[in-house]
Amino acid sequence: MRKPIIAGNWKLNKTIDESINLVEDIKIKIMDLDREKMPIVVVCPVFTSLKTVGDIIDSSKSIYLGAQNCYYEDAGAFTGEVSVPMIKEVGATYIIIGHSERRQYFGETDNAINLKAKTILAHGLIPIICCGETLEQREAGQTDKIVKNQIIADLKDLTEEQIAKSVIAYEPVWAIGTGKTCESPEANRVIKLIRSTVAEVSSKDAADKARILYGGSVKPSTIEEQMSQSDIDGALVGGASLDAESFAQLVKGAMLVTSK
Ligand code: PGA
Repeated sequence: MRKPIIAGNWKLNKTIDESINLVEDIKIKIMDLDREKMPIVVVCPVFTSLKTVGDIIDSSKSIYLGAQNCYYEDAGAFTGEVSVPMIKEVGATYIIIGHSERRQYFGETDNAINLKAKTILAHGLIPIICCGETLEQREAGQTDKIVKNQIIADLKDLTEEQIAKSVIAYEPVWAIGTGKTCESPEANRVIKLIRSTVAEVSSKDAADKARILYGGSVKPSTIEEQMSQSDIDGALVGGASLDAESFAQLVKGAMLVTSK
């Protein structure tokens, strides 16, 4: 059984005070939901807000903390980086890696993503590994090849057990922050391809267990249809996660569909 995940990627938004307001509001709005039926809810604030937000959600036991990036070495002369043990220390369970904005603006490579995934899993945390094609690649008919190659490189040398625990997010770059959602059947098709790639590089069991999310302009009006697809296990949400009401609606929308 794959319990759905609704993860909010706050990106470079919200000061500490604003983060407190947002997470307190989210807490209130999902407080009365049935825990059994509720998806795993994750919020990923900026590094400087992690500890504060972590302390607030700690007591609720219904929201998990995630970071938006990490470095693959634990410590050393790596100015400006934040390591996995440091992120773990503030109470995070999840770490997003390979987001297209990091690939595009900060040169994050599949090799670095793979090293990060290994370190995250070695420390008992869960990576949310992002993949997805650009508009140019889609128009050139390269979607399947690009996504497949990213997944093969990102999961290289991970054990079956590690892959089973991991979360993958299919995020077509052209759908991120653009308001253009990938049609649900198409998102499901690519996600099925990702799942079969996972089975090829690892095992069917690992592929059946790994959660694969969709990301890219997810909003309350699209979540139910997305969640009702056979292979979509939840959503990685940017814009709509910055508003407590719309984020809570996504959590509620995901509850209308049971675990897969
Ligand atoms: P978006 O961002 O929901 O604003 O499109 C998604 C993401 O980048 O994870």
